[in-house]
Amino acid sequence: MRHEKDWYKELVIYQIYPRSFMDGNGDGIGDLKGMTQKLDYLKELGITAVWMSPVYASPNVDNGYDISDYFSIMEEFGTMEDWEEFRDQAHQRGIAVIMDLVLNHSSDLHAWFQESKKSRDNEFSDYYIWRDPAPDGGAPNKWLSVFGGGAWEYVPERGQYYLHFFAKEQPDLNWDNKEAREKIFDIIRFWNDKGVDGYRVDAISYLDKGMDGRADMSEPFGTSSCANLEGTHRYIREMVEKTTRPDNLMTVGEVNIRNLQDAKDYTSASRGEFDMAIGFVPPIVEIKTWSPERFKKEVKEQYEALKEDGWWARFFSNHDKPRQVSLYGDDREYWLESAKMLGCYLHTLPGTPFVYQGEELGMTNIQLPSINDYDDIDTKNYYKTMLKEGASPKEALAESQMVSRDNARTPMQWDDSENGGFSSCRPWLPVNENYTRINAKQQMEDQDSVFRFYQKLIALRKENPVLVHGDFKLCCPEEGPVIAYTRSLEGETWLAVHNFSGQEQKLEHDQVTEETRVILGNYKGQ
Ligand code: NOJ
Ligand code: CA
Repeated sequence: MRHEKDWYKELVIYQIYPRSFMDGNGDGIGDLKGMTQKLDYLKELGITAVWMSPVYASPNVDNGYDISDYFSIMEEFGTMEDWEEFRDQAHQRGIAVIMDLVLNHSSDLHAWFQESKKSRDNEFSDYYIWRDPAPDGGAPNKWLSVFGGGAWEYVPERGQYYLHFFAKEQPDLNWDNKEAREKIFDIIRFWNDKGVDGYRVDAISYLDKGMDGRADMSEPFGTSSCANLEGTHRYIREMVEKTTRPDNLMTVGEVNIRNLQDAKDYTSASRGEFDMAIGFVPPIVEIKTWSPERFKKEVKEQYEALKEDGWWARFFSNHDKPRQVSLYGDDREYWLESAKMLGCYLHTLPGTPFVYQGEELGMTNIQLPSINDYDDIDTKNYYKTMLKEGASPKEALAESQMVSRDNARTPMQWDDSENGGFSSCRPWLPVNENYTRINAKQQMEDQDSVFRFYQKLIALRKENPVLVHGDFKLCCPEEGPVIAYTRSLEGETWLAVHNFSGQEQKLEHDQVTEETRVILGNYKGQ
């Protein structure tokens, strides 16, 4: 596919978590063949791009975010031919293909790391971040890893520690090494040549570790200490200039946004970094701090900060967050209404919407009975850390269930047959037991379903430039659960109103008259 500049602004991107989307060969694990089978479903929904979480060869310590070979496909997911078939079938349906690039770290089983750890003077010895022990023999500094525990691991062969901001099986690559950088860019060039349309770039705020005194050592987490340093921005610009910009490939960076300046630094078009940014917030922080008031404030500020020279990625769900209807809505009494309301909010905000698989069905969180039923490395470590800090097993389980990334990773609920139509055999992670009630087949037959509502929103966005390019203006009180705003373009004004509470609310708006037409509503028949 050829791409014009700024084409990404009109996309509606659908995220597939391949392990959980559709099992094409009956082994209980989602795969590329399954993804291809479901392209007609995605076409019917109306989305125009698929971002697939990593499908490269991986030992799956972090479900594909630990890559052992960037040039081949994970066996469980199929073959390169299967990937090419998916690409071709997607392109035939006008769906762009976005790959996930995990370049902050590789798997410890990657050939580079296997060599690097052997000695201090081999071809790859400087491809990772190695440091001598502290004078007491301990780790070089006190940095903690995102998944719990220290961020350094000792390797006797070298007599040194290597840095891993995530699991110890995910050693951080050394972007300060020019040759390593070029090898990393070769990975992107390989996928460019395969016809990829864009990239979501994983955990990319920490390339420059700042260990020469620039990182803020008062922050215990390595990823907070060195977030967004100047070298990181320089490397991102180099990467974009050499790999994605020449063909206008889309880029969305998963970054650490602490303030508006960070958002501008990563996504101002004039800086030549990413087209859009996905800000990472740990689930427990989001659960504890989100509110309609915070949403309103952030949306307004971000709009003002980027409207002249930037763009926004809009998402409420992904494979690292609880399900949106459970987190921001009401997954019981007002399940249908709140799932639709969140969809309306997503598609009417300025920016490119990202729909996470199952969100278009209003899929909800799960509560597995024991910590052993969970798969996610982060959930298991979270549980252990809570126990260490004195929580009872019951408390630790309750909180782990709430924050678990597995909430978003249960298999897609395609129909009400066994295993939700996801697989003919027992899936790698249990299907949410509400699949008999919440599933794609039922929703496609029901004109009032969440699926049909998403389909209408996506169609409206395609047909009405005001939703893509219109100005944005909040028109509701700063306090309270109502989020309302207008989008305006060339004399046309649309009003979007959302009630984030279970009670009726009133909104005064001087432009609403008898003639104002309701385009879409989240109650039956609207
Ligand atoms: C962010 C990804 O979204 C997450 O799933 C992963 O565990 C970390 N980066 C590490 O790659
Ligand atoms: Ca399979």
